[in-house]
Amino acid sequence: MDARLQLRVQRYGWDRAAAVYQHYWERQLAPAQQRLLALADIQRGERVLDVACGTGLVTFPAADAVGPTGFVLAMDISDEMVKVVTLEAERRGLPQVRAERLAAEETATPDKPFDVALCALGLMYVTDPMAVLRAMHAALRPGGRCVVAVWGARARCGWAEIFPIVDRRVRSEVCPLFFQLGGGDALRISMQQAGFGDIQVDRIAATLDYDSPEDACGAAFAGGPVALAYSRFDDATKDEVHREYLDSIAEWKHGDGYRVPGEFVVASGVRSDT
Ligand SMILES: C[S@@+](CC[C@H](N)C(=O)[O-])C[C@H]1O[C@@H](n2cnc3c(N)ncnc32)[C@H](O)[C@@H]1O
Repeated sequence: MDARLQLRVQRYGWDRAAAVYQHYWERQLAPAQQRLLALADIQRGERVLDVACGTGLVTFPAADAVGPTGFVLAMDISDEMVKVVTLEAERRGLPQVRAERLAAEETATPDKPFDVALCALGLMYVTDPMAVLRAMHAALRPGGRCVVAVWGARARCGWAEIFPIVDRRVRSEVCPLFFQLGGGDALRISMQQAGFGDIQVDRIAATLDYDSPEDACGAAFAGGPVALAYSRFDDATKDEVHREYLDSIAEWKHGDGYRVPGEFVVASGVRSDT
């Protein structure tokens, strides 16, 4: 897929997710986000960059950790996600949070470097993950920490058929690099190549709990990487992709709902040059 098309697919697909994202994903993503925040060990007064911030599930704990003397720059490609973070920062009275609509690919080297750079479950969607990791490295002070979380190996993510099911009905793959960093040692090697040292990588087994078939399909299709394509399907095609997706996760049916296996990889590294 060409890079500009992928950026549009992500931008407008995630715009559709903003209102429902926490309902479907807050509980499911918490193990990865909590591990990422633990590895980041954010201190009072620090400056934090949160790339692909979504609705701020990592931004706000980071803002609490840095306190009023710190700063969190939260960036996301989706206007709707940025609006959610901006409004929530106002509601919580957190002037240390600034949210901006920016693609991760546009991460610039700041005038004043960051102490910590985070990207929770965003790198699977970018056009050039290596370039984003290098930009996060460049945004840090020497000794600054970077922590990223991605989905793990395709074979351990029971919901992975969502991509071929949608791809068969559109002209190009909706998220071609999705599992690129999740397998083997890919994330460690990428972080090394981006210049990080002292790298630690954790694999976390997860379960995606859905109370009903509607919940499983809502989480998969309502927002995110396949949402833009899905929104253009007619009703018959929507029914068809729901059926195919539910068939693909049938082995994890549990009562009225589903318990689908998943895996996260969380990696931390330090900018070790001076
Ligand atoms: C799964 S959500 C993760 C959000 C948040 N970090 C969290 O942990 O809940 C992925 C986010 O990546 C954003 N995204 C996708 N492609 C992006 C890109 N190229 N640049 C910046 N953000 C992007 C989406 O808009 C979405 O908010």
